[in-house]
Amino acid sequence: MSRPIALVTGASSGIGERLALRLASSGHDLVLVARRADELARVAARAAEFGATCETIVADLSDAADVATVEARIADDTRPIEILVNNAGYGRFGALRDLDGPGEANEIAVNVTALTLLSRAALIAMAPRKRGGILNVASLASFIPFPGFTTYAATKAYVRHFTLALHEEAKPFGIRVTCLAPGFTPTGFQERGGLSQSSGVPSALLTSADMVARVGLEALRDGRAIVVPGWINAIMARCLGLVPSFLLRRMGSIGARFTR
Ligand SMILES: NC(=O)c1ccc[n+]([C@@H]2O[C@H](COP(=O)([O-])OP(=O)(O)OC[C@H]3O[C@@H](n4cnc5c(N)ncnc54)[C@H](OP(=O)(O)O)[C@@H]3O)[C@@H](O)[C@H]2O)c1
Repeated sequence: MSRPIALVTGASSGIGERLALRLASSGHDLVLVARRADELARVAARAAEFGATCETIVADLSDAADVATVEARIADDTRPIEILVNNAGYGRFGALRDLDGPGEANEIAVNVTALTLLSRAALIAMAPRKRGGILNVASLASFIPFPGFTTYAATKAYVRHFTLALHEEAKPFGIRVTCLAPGFTPTGFQERGGLSQSSGVPSALLTSADMVARVGLEALRDGRAIVVPGWINAIMARCLGLVPSFLLRRMGSIGARFTR
């Protein structure tokens, strides 16, 4: 019997790599998407150790043509995608006035536009089959306006709201849709964003990429709408939801002062 296929964006490192390897070890073949072909080949070789057959798509998800290529792969019914993981994403730390405009637009294109279009393609492909799963990676930062990480936190707030709505839209079709909202997880993310590896975050709040991947996939399997890995982060997310807006903004400003 053929193995179900999972497509993972941002599979070349960090949380996406761990998600891909966990999917491979649980019996999936893979479509791995990112820009770095050499890193995708490395992850594919590791996934093959679990018996997974891997396709790789070298794509820049800020580029509309590359996104269309991935959408076309998702639409290909001869090799149906059972699980879509929208994990590719990044953030740039700094005051908005200091960050260049094209860079901000690029971040929104990857974190928001590509995720939206790929989710849409998956929903269209999966609905007639009446099954499938979509796991979208947001962030704990989605719960708080975060000065200095302003655009990033806003893109992740979009991902959270979008995914929660999609969870309901997809339900009648038997499609599971889950939002994974990790807290601070040491990966390539910090270096890309201009942050240090722990950025002054207390070690009790740090989560590992592998733990985040495990918790995310378990939540998708269980049909949960949203999951925040790590019990302290989960409580924090709950509490942030109860804080009035003016206080939330102040808290974000204070948090930003400690983040470097
Ligand atoms: N680490 C954290 O603390 C943390 C916390 C909350 C949420 N997250 C989210 O978790 C997700 C994974 O991040 P990570 O922590 O694993 O960081 P990472 O190690 O830097 O991985 C980011 C992945 O996204 C891919 N990517 C970035 N820009 C891309 C583009 N233009 N086109 C295609 N792929 C692109 C990268 O691949 P290439 O460079 O090869 O293209 C890489 O595979 C992101 O959405 C991030 O926002 C991370």
